[in-house]
Amino acid sequence: MREPTALKRMSLHFFAFFLVLSFGYGPRVEAWSKEGHAMTCKIAQDLLEPEASQAVQMLLPDYVDGDLSALCVWPDQVRHWYRYRWTSPLHFIDTPDKACNFNYKRDCHDTHGVKDMCVAGAIQNFTNQLSHYRHGTSDRRHNMTEALLFLAHFMGDIHQPMHVGFTSDAGGNTIELRWFRHKSNLHHVWDREIILTAAADYYGKDTSLLQQDIEGNFTDGIWTDDLSSWRDCDNLSTCVNKYAAESINIACNWGYKGVEAGDTLSDEYFDSRLPLVMKRIAQGGVRLAMILNRIFADGEEQEDSVAAT
Ligand SMILES: *[C@@H]1O[C@H](CO)[C@@H](O)[C@H](O)[C@H]1NC(C)=O
Ligand SMILES: *[C@@H]1O[C@H](CO)[C@@H](O)[C@H](O)[C@H]1NC(C)=O
Ligand SMILES: *[C@@H]1O[C@H](CO)[C@@H](O)[C@H](O)[C@H]1NC(C)=O
Ligand SMILES: *[C@@H]1O[C@H](CO)[C@@H](O)[C@H](O)[C@H]1NC(C)=O
Ligand SMILES: [Zn+2]
Repeated sequence: MREPTALKRMSLHFFAFFLVLSFGYGPRVEAWSKEGHAMTCKIAQDLLEPEASQAVQMLLPDYVDGDLSALCVWPDQVRHWYRYRWTSPLHFIDTPDKACNFNYKRDCHDTHGVKDMCVAGAIQNFTNQLSHYRHGTSDRRHNMTEALLFLAHFMGDIHQPMHVGFTSDAGGNTIELRWFRHKSNLHHVWDREIILTAAADYYGKDTSLLQQDIEGNFTDGIWTDDLSSWRDCDNLSTCVNKYAAESINIACNWGYKGVEAGDTLSDEYFDSRLPLVMKRIAQGGVRLAMILNRIFADGEEQEDSVAAT
């Protein structure tokens, strides 16, 4: 009886091994959490003009009932599937260690050096694909529903400061530490821990209340005066580069700042970083709406500025 058991155990190990392989157990399994992406997309959808709102409805599959946020995390779910493996480098940007700045030519490529394969390139790519939709001139090889989901997701990612991080630590993924009492890593703290701790501490774990509080703070609150500057954009590639530069800047001054592997991060880190996380979610949502409103706008002149390439 020993042999079959040993064999069984061995095959279980193999099974586990293949599971790990097939789901790509790499350092970059996460992104703005499901909650972060959903809030970004809800904020954006609430700000859509009628034309854009209608186009988004048309592009979404029926089963989400017009709710973009239900699918905003889809690109994270498929990135390890064979068919979508090409999208994996599109979620982030690796910048040189300690450089603390972003340079599109230098940094926007995948690990093989293929250019434009980073989150900044992807936003332009999918904006460009979608901009043909209204005229019915889209390339039939491109799936417009997928283009919308990718754009919505990547606008979230580019605003997550640690998605524009140092190369050697994979945007903080390899910096293992503790978040209060449980194990985490620095990337994950910015993706998820800060949001979830805030939701639990201040909003009874209800992220829709958190999202409403964010919206309240730009419609009538601390960010009201900043709103128009967030939306300001004459040239999409310049704007996207600015969003990435803002992120690496926050990553350096707040993300990595004072943190070493093995540290325990708690109240002090949480309290000082929370406002930044909230602001980035707000900016991501407001800017996603700005881009979608331009892509699907009725006027011609607005659209040219966004669909440059
Ligand atoms: C743009 O999208 C197409 C497919 O829709 C893909 O083949 C290409 O690699 C993408 N490039 C970037 C930079 O996202
Ligand atoms: C577009 O992509 C979605 C999601 O992957 C898929 O369900 C849908 O069938 C695709 N549409 C076309 C026309 O290929
Ligand atoms: C909204 O602004 C108030 C200050 O007026 C602040 O206390 C609160 O944390 C902010 N909420 C969010 C989600 O940013
Ligand atoms: C936007 O800026 C980029 C880089 O500076 C430039 O190459 C491009 O031509 C500009 N596009 C428009 C529409 O002005
Ligand atoms: Zn992502």
